[in-house]
Amino acid sequence: MNSVRALRVPVGEDDSRRANRRDWDRYADEYQATHGSFLGDAGFVWGPEGQSEADLKLLGDVRGRDVLELGSGAGQCSRWVNSQGGRAVGLDLSMRQLQHSRRIDAETGVTVPQVCGTATQLPFADRSFDVVFCSFGALQFVADGAAAVAETARVLRPGGRFVFSVTHPTRWMFQDDPGEEGLVANQSYWDRTPYVEVDDETGMVNYVEHHRTIGDWVALLAAEGMALIRFEEPEWPADHDRTWGGWSRTRGLLTPGTAIFVAVLNA
Ligand SMILES: C[S@@+](CC[C@H](N)C(=O)[O-])C[C@H]1O[C@@H](n2cnc3c(N)ncnc32)[C@H](O)[C@@H]1O
Repeated sequence: MNSVRALRVPVGEDDSRRANRRDWDRYADEYQATHGSFLGDAGFVWGPEGQSEADLKLLGDVRGRDVLELGSGAGQCSRWVNSQGGRAVGLDLSMRQLQHSRRIDAETGVTVPQVCGTATQLPFADRSFDVVFCSFGALQFVADGAAAVAETARVLRPGGRFVFSVTHPTRWMFQDDPGEEGLVANQSYWDRTPYVEVDDETGMVNYVEHHRTIGDWVALLAAEGMALIRFEEPEWPADHDRTWGGWSRTRGLLTPGTAIFVAVLNA
């Protein structure tokens, strides 16, 4: 594989989707091999700190509920929802991630219907779901956050819940480094220019992540008639010592790494 250069440059929705689909197809096997046991085949964690939905109870009672997961990967979270009596469907951009989902369905006997698509154009009818959620899934990979939130509002039933975790927006002030270097604030929190990895040889965009401030997220939700009812910033557990990319005990004891937004669509 060619070497990559990390940059902050503007990238639009189509290019973000193209790059991230290719990247997740390429990375899926390694991702599942590295993180699969931490995630659990039918487990639901909200982020690298390891807090589970069983503990936080952010979705509400999922029994008998129609649930959609955005950026579902290998479907671990949706499988947990279905094991609790919910009716979860997963949507992901990467076919390779969905193949892993099918593999785990067969291994566990707990099945998650999956759709290959993008969070910015949901292939579902209006008012189809009681809950839409996303655990570090699609939302930080899309350029058009407004479209993703509008699509979510469209497919939710009135009074339905939208719950999502993303990299804590304050992390964008720091380098993505799990060590001491990653504790030095040297980038503006208000710089929304995406993080981009470019192939050194071809010049092609390989990977894109988009930053929104906490205020940006609140404004996007409000614009679609959603009210924020809870905002979680999970603390790093005292007995937790697992490094995941830029998330580590060193940083986690000092700064929040994950933000979880819980919103309700006006009835
Ligand atoms: C960090 S993984 C998280 C997946 C799963 N929630 C987990 O914890 O393993 C991010 C997922 O988002 C998917 N994704 C990225 N951009 C997307 C988009 N525009 N629409 C839907 N899924 C997307 C990727 O393919 C990948 O499976």
